[in-house]
Amino acid sequence: MYMLDMQSVAKVFRTEQVTTHALRSLDLRVHEREFVAVTGPSGSGKSTFLNIAGLLETFTSGTYTLDGDDVSALDDNARSRLRNQKIGFIFQGFNLIPDLTLFDNVDVPLLYRGMPAGERRERIEGALERVGLGSRMKHYPNELSGGQQQRAAIARALAGSPRLLLADEPTGNLDSEMAQSVMELMEQINAAGTTIIMVTHDPLLAARAHRNVHIVDGQATNVMHDSTTSNNARAQHVHAPTA
Ligand SMILES: Nc1ncnc2c1ncn2[C@@H]1O[C@H](COP(=O)(O)OP(=O)(O)OP(=O)(O)O)[C@@H](O)[C@H]1O
Ligand SMILES: [Mg+2]
Repeated sequence: MYMLDMQSVAKVFRTEQVTTHALRSLDLRVHEREFVAVTGPSGSGKSTFLNIAGLLETFTSGTYTLDGDDVSALDDNARSRLRNQKIGFIFQGFNLIPDLTLFDNVDVPLLYRGMPAGERRERIEGALERVGLGSRMKHYPNELSGGQQQRAAIARALAGSPRLLLADEPTGNLDSEMAQSVMELMEQINAAGTTIIMVTHDPLLAARAHRNVHIVDGQATNVMHDSTTSNNARAQHVHAPTA
């Protein structure tokens, strides 16, 4: 079974003036536990793909099966519920709430799930410790460096134990040292069993993923890259078809 299985997915944005075909018949399958990097030119549809994958946006036609569930026919409420249960999202701009502490930021998606306070506390502390911010729980986002803010955003995404972690240029606003630490953290999360799809413009980071998918003009193609390491995940996925 695939974690993500999209077939012929298209997305058309219509305004009064323009019609934009952001995705044209995109086919992509991602295995459980894969770490996929998505690259491609600006405006090619990467964020649109990720937003659809993360159930933040609907699509115009095609089919999308997420972890065995056909999401095409879900209404808004069912989509939100599924997103909250299965998906963690990390954005380029961190998207932390400025007047909440890190603890309370990480709490937001758990509150939404209606989880009891004791379990929430355990998950929040666990997630913040995992990203190296155990001593910063009462701090506010603007008291942290960019790399720390991004790690807090990763803790928020992790606290709910998502099956699929989606990251849209998570290192785009970070210097190279902070980008390294965020990338290492994502690799650890993947090694612990979470499937990751990461959009990046950085070819060095993309090369560290199991597989690269290139989106051009709203369509996805698989890109193979030479790899000196050949762990099982790679051997298993390098020949995986996109369609
Ligand atoms: N809400 C929207 N309304 C109308 N058009 C949109 C909307 N969102 C995206 N588009 C258009 O869809 C196309 C794909 O946009 P998308 O944001 O997916 O590109 P991207 O590959 O993420 O680019 P970048 O690398 O610059 O982030 C673009 O032409 C964009 O203008
Ligand atoms: Mg984008």
